[in-house]
Parts: sequence; structure tokens; C-alpha cells
Amino acid sequence: MKTRVLTGITTTGTPHLGNYVGAIRPAVAASRRDDVDAFYFMADYHALIKSDDPARIERSRLEIAATWLAAGLDPHKVTFYRQSDIPEIPELTWFLTCVTAKGLLNRAHAYKAAVDKNTAAGEDADAGVTAGLYMYPVLMAADILAFNANKVPVGRDQIQHVEMARDIAQRFNHIYGREFFVLPEVAIEEQVATLPGLDGRKMSKSYDNTIPLFSGGQKHLREAILRIVTDSRLPGEPKDPDSSSLFTIFRAFASEAESAAFRQALVDGIGWGEAKQVLFERIEVEVAPMRESYDALIARPAVIEEILREGASKARAIAAPKVAELRDAIGLRSGVLVAPQAAAGKAAPKAGKPPRFASFRDSDGRFRFRLFSADGEELLLSQPFADPKAAGALQKRIKEQGASSAIVQVQPLSLSLELDGEPVAASPAYADEAARDQAHARLREVLAQLAALD
Ligand code: TRP
Repeated sequence: MKTRVLTGITTTGTPHLGNYVGAIRPAVAASRRDDVDAFYFMADYHALIKSDDPARIERSRLEIAATWLAAGLDPHKVTFYRQSDIPEIPELTWFLTCVTAKGLLNRAHAYKAAVDKNTAAGEDADAGVTAGLYMYPVLMAADILAFNANKVPVGRDQIQHVEMARDIAQRFNHIYGREFFVLPEVAIEEQVATLPGLDGRKMSKSYDNTIPLFSGGQKHLREAILRIVTDSRLPGEPKDPDSSSLFTIFRAFASEAESAAFRQALVDGIGWGEAKQVLFERIEVEVAPMRESYDALIARPAVIEEILREGASKARAIAAPKVAELRDAIGLRSGVLVAPQAAAGKAAPKAGKPPRFASFRDSDGRFRFRLFSADGEELLLSQPFADPKAAGALQKRIKEQGASSAIVQVQPLSLSLELDGEPVAASPAYADEAARDQAHARLREVLAQLAALD
């Protein structure tokens, strides 16, 4: 069963060791699993809420993209893109805004914290609060819902936002009377370590206690490690591994056996200076090769740009038909005259014939079917079945669930359709990726058309 996993990274900073261990490394590992269809993107519209410094946002977008790629993200397997390259996201944000209760947004933690702070300072409750901050959860809901994400891995501070995305999706589904949106679930990685920063508190940009991952190179990494706060025990005195940040960080990079050896060295009284050198060398084993790719990527922004553009086109192949379907559903159908029955409240068929299935028996006697678009383009060929009834049942499922819960897997030059984690049909081969992506958009549209037929 393939699960669509989606998460965003706000582009306001430079990734540090805590981001790497807590978010990047587990996300890259998850993206390699065969049962995961990962969507990772740079939340640069969200960045505008936090920062009005163009140079910082631009720099951060580049650094974050290079970091994820250097950390092993495979842009052919994953859909990796920038939020601001997907015009369907702000479009969907507006549709969702119009069904979102203002009271729901009043309860968002980030907004409430700003109001509480103002109130405590005797200021107007909304002083310094932009509508962008207020709308943050709706934009995030659009990020998630545009792609029918099943799981959203986030930090604990974001759980409420994912819950709001569910609320908003349910509200929209209810108002417009169909399961337009998959209800996303939050995913919290319990086993992933939270790294302490230089001062022993959680490593975080807001505490200014971070250890850089790549920026500043090996030299900065080493200098930062030397600044990690320790107690004043001298070399030769036993150290307590369990209260030492050095040990916590070491463990996040090392095997059980290496960690046991480091623990023993601390108990045996290794000096803090030497312990820091051991930690630095262990981190370098993992970070040095990635840093090399990072530096190579940063030096060639055009390569990153190309990867992100391809990612955006894969992402839009899903978001565009989705938003088109929603436009139709909410009364913003474009390009066709409103047919009388549509005015009477019934979905109007698309101009011309509907898409159709054509069943046949192949040379070894098994039953298959093809799915053709209204204008006769072959979009899918089904798996073979021994029993014609099974083939018929699959047609019914594609019709009923295709638009909402099928996953279209993008192969190098073709597409395949999965229902409930099973591959059920495949497209013809396409000449190139652009042709494949266009066919992807048409397939999504046809699935939506099928769902709308009665
Ligand atoms: N708000 C998230 C954060 O600050 C980033 C984000 C934006 C996001 N859109 C998202 C995360 C959608 C998950 C899904 O961490």
C-alpha cells in the first residue's frame, strides 16, 4: 500500500545539525521506501509570513534545496518542488478560506500567542499581526489537500495545523457534498532524536545555539562543536554520559557499538576537549561526503533550478486537475456554457462524449480493458484478469475511487495507476517527460470526469 507522505520546509533559515537529524535524514530515509510516495517542498509562501528580507528568503531557498539533495533525496523518486511554483496552491487557499470558520483561525496557537503577548504588554490585541500570520493554517491546508496527502510528518508545534487541515477538508467535503479531499493524518517520528544545542537546550534557531550542517564548511562545524557547553570536570575525572550533550549528539550519528565505546570513554574520564574531537570526527564521517555534494550544488544553482522546475511540473500534474475539479464543483466552471441541467443543479457533462472503458480478451485468453479519453486517446491498459467479472469490478472501482484515492505513479516515461496500493493499470509509453506529464494531467482529468458521471 503506497502512502502519500507530504511535508514542507519553511525557507527562512540555513539547515543546522538538529534539522538534519530531526527532519531531513528521516524524511530522506522515508522517501526511499517502496510503500511511500513522498512530496517534499519548500514552503516559500509561508516564509513571507516570517520574513520580509528578500535576500534571506532567496538564499534560504537555495541552501535548503541543496541540503535536501545533498542529503540523498532522489528527485526522480520524490516530488520535490517550491510552493511558489504551484499557482494552484494560492487558488485552493482561497477556496478553503471561504469555508473556514474565522473562529477556527482565532484558536491557532501561533496567532493566539501573538495576541496573548500583545495583551500582556497592554497593546491592541492584534498589534503587529498580519493577515498572513492569521491565514497561515489555511495556506498549509492547501499545501496538504492539493495533493491528497495521507501522512504529514511535522514537529509537535505543527500538529494543530494538520488537524485544522482535516477540519477544513471535512467542511469543504460536507458543503460541496463529495469526498473531494483525503483527510490527512499527522505523523510524528517518535524515535528520532531531538538534538541539544550549544547551551544544552533544544537546538533551535530561536535560541541561537545551533551547529551548522554545511554552511561555513568543516571549520565552522569543528568550531561550533568546541563551543558545546560541558561541566568543569577535568581530564581523568569520570563524566556522566547521560547528562552530556556531547553524548546525545554522538548517539544520533553512531551505531550502538560506537555509542557504547564513547560512553565508556566518558566514564573512564576522557577529557572534554578530546571527547569533542571524537564527536567531530564521527559527525564528519557522515557529513563530509554530503558537504561535498552540497558545495557542488550551491556552485551550480541552475542545476537546482532545473530539478525544482521538473518537480513543479510533476506536482502541478496532480494539483491542476484537482483544482480544476474543485472549480467545477463550486460553480467556477470555465470555458463551457452552462448547460440547462447544470443550472438546475446537476453536473453538466464535459463537452462531447464521456471517457470510456473498452474491454477485450487478450491472446492468452485473459480479460483486460483500456481507458480512453472522450477524444479517443488511450490512457490506461488494465492488468489481465482470468475472470471478466474481476475486470468489470476494477472498472467500477476506477470510476468510483479513481479521482479521490488512486495514486498515479510517475515512471520515467510512463504512468501507472494504483488503487489501495496495488498497481491496476498502466499507460502507454511516452516520447519524453513533458509528454508524460501532460498525459498525467489528462489522466487526472479523465478520472475526475468518470467520478462525476452517474
Ligand atoms: N508550517 C510548517 C513548519 O513551519 C511548514 C509547512 C508549510 C508544512 N506547509 C506545510 C509542513 C504542509 C507540512 C505540510 O514547519
